[in-house]
Amino acid sequence: TKQVPQDKSLDNTLALMREGYKFIENRVNKYHSDIFETRLFGQKVICMSGEESAKIFYDSELFIRKNATPKRIQKTLFGVGGVQSLDGEAHAHRKKLFLSLMTSTQQIRLANLVMEKWLDSVKNWEGVEKVVLFDVSNEVLCRAACQWAGVPLLETEVKERADDFSSMVSAFGAIGPQHWKGKRARARAEEWIRGIIEDVRAGKIKTEEGSALNAIAFHRELDGNQLDAQIAAVELINVLRPIVAISTFITFSALALYENPKCKEKLITGESNEFKIFVQEVRRYYPFGPFLGARARKDFIWNQCEFKEDMLVLLDIYGTNHDSRLWDKPDKFRPERFKERNENLFDFIPQGGSDPAKGHRCPGEGITIEIMKTSIDFLVNNIEFEVQDQDLSYSLVKMPTLPKSGFVMSNIKRKTLNG
Ligand code: HEM
Repeated sequence: TKQVPQDKSLDNTLALMREGYKFIENRVNKYHSDIFETRLFGQKVICMSGEESAKIFYDSELFIRKNATPKRIQKTLFGVGGVQSLDGEAHAHRKKLFLSLMTSTQQIRLANLVMEKWLDSVKNWEGVEKVVLFDVSNEVLCRAACQWAGVPLLETEVKERADDFSSMVSAFGAIGPQHWKGKRARARAEEWIRGIIEDVRAGKIKTEEGSALNAIAFHRELDGNQLDAQIAAVELINVLRPIVAISTFITFSALALYENPKCKEKLITGESNEFKIFVQEVRRYYPFGPFLGARARKDFIWNQCEFKEDMLVLLDIYGTNHDSRLWDKPDKFRPERFKERNENLFDFIPQGGSDPAKGHRCPGEGITIEIMKTSIDFLVNNIEFEVQDQDLSYSLVKMPTLPKSGFVMSNIKRKTLNG
């Protein structure tokens, strides 16, 4: 029988920090195995990559999410007690709440708001020498997300709130100042949103039926009780924060447009499917979520590997999206590959795998795709700008990552219809 490779080392946490997005892929290649054992964060960990691994990772008979997320990530990115940490019926019930907010009508309503906010901000860019796309995206998406969700937001707050949402995300792989910044950002955001939930329940803030704020404030748990205001805040932030985080994909989209002028051509008054395949390729090609964690529910053997109850297991997102068995020339940016592709729930996993209603896959993919399409349309068809000398490279070590300059646009002008 095949032995599962053991990546021998006292602890590989430092190697993970040195290798970042490529940590799992490097070892999968070295051992010619989709699965290997190592030690990370002071414990035995199984790392896996590829479609077959994704299939078992999402088998809820075998894996749970309770205690799968380190405390430092809960204190920054996720919050404590949110949907990410639930299992079984409690998870299914909470997940229904999220999915009910993200219907295709709601996706379009949000995307239209995003376009409106983009067009509003162009006015402020005229005569301005430079605009950092990542920064303005955060603000545009923060305005749109709050308005869409029914959360009151003053124009004077936008910058700070947007920055806080963004800092929670950039704390992911950070230690030191960047981590502390994420912690403070979360504490501030939770206090703000908790206050709003309480005001809604007290009738001090009016909400519209069907808005995220209304649905979360009045959501009933399986036991019939309302969510604790603190948990409600964590869950509303679980809607707002990732919408703002789409600015990472928007910034990578701008880089892709710049580096692939032929692809850009096709988007000038392009048909909807051209936008769709471009967006899918951005989500596949560029690094964002590196890997996912779960714990073995029980002892079992899979692929000759012994899983022990409670063992931590990591599924490689970045590596699976660049797996050469699944993707022809994975390191080429080629939107056309999505034209020929059959849908599969386990081989294209930028936002997780399997069915979102049955597991932890992101409920926000529809929203992400619509917001990206709208924002790319804006960049291609509503404005003209110059890309002057700047550092557009991005690290594969830092998690999450971004083009170093944040994508600076210069001499921005609105495109007029008659050219
Ligand atoms: C879960 C990625 C946008 C809400 C996830 C997961 C990933 C992910 C990798 C974990 C899947 C798993 O654990 O199996 C992303 C990326 C986004 C994005 C890269 C683009 C910026 C969004 C948006 C929303 C959202 C726009 C909401 C409006 C959530 C929630 C979960 C989740 C609530 C937890 C689901 C659960 O535990 O059942 N996302 N997401 N995400 N995402 Fe997203």
